[in-house]
Amino acid sequence: MPGDIDDAIAVWAEANVGSEPPGHAARLRAWAADPGALLIVAIEGTTIAGMVLLLAGRADDGAGPLIADLGHLTGLAVLPDRQGQGVGGRLLVAAETAAASASRRRMTAWVRTTNQASLRLFARNGFGPVGRELQDSSGMRMSLLQKWICAIS
Ligand SMILES: CC(C)(COP(=O)(O)OP(=O)(O)OC[C@H]1O[C@@H](n2cnc3c(N)ncnc32)[C@H](O)[C@@H]1OP(=O)(O)O)[C@@H](O)C(=O)NCCC(=O)NCCS
Repeated sequence: MPGDIDDAIAVWAEANVGSEPPGHAARLRAWAADPGALLIVAIEGTTIAGMVLLLAGRADDGAGPLIADLGHLTGLAVLPDRQGQGVGGRLLVAAETAAASASRRRMTAWVRTTNQASLRLFARNGFGPVGRELQDSSGMRMSLLQKWICAIS
């Protein structure tokens, strides 16, 4: 059934052919197993068109203690032939709704500084750089983006 983490990671791998950070698929699988993690998928018919993982936020770039008000997004990906049709935007909206329901007040995500499509998508959805950069496991620069979530009353 679509929704299984391995099916979702297959979509992530297809979206990232040639650019995937080494070991990242295994990290996504491990993070998804965390009880505080939520796998969000876009399903079209019987196909997973896209995925994103919403993780419980932690200090020290994920290695430290839980941060109650923080949700962290990773693994955002859309099948190449489904890109440019709003699937990525819908995944970010769904992630924000889930984060707000879990009483998160902000969300973060790392995006490669060369990934203009992703940077535009996050910016359009209210994320901005916090001024922190790191290298991923490919040695590519990544920028930490954050969005404050408006309280729903
Ligand atoms: C980055 C990524 C997730 C974006 O997903 P997506 O589904 O293409 O995103 P959207 O369709 O919501 O937006 C992409 C573009 O399509 C446009 N678009 C959205 N709906 C549209 C529609 N119905 N008709 C025409 N264009 C549309 C958006 O305006 C946007 O335009 P832009 O590129 O000028 O900013 C996708 O390209 C991807 O998987 N890339 C490879 C993996 C990756 O880089 N992941 C991000 C890691 S941080």
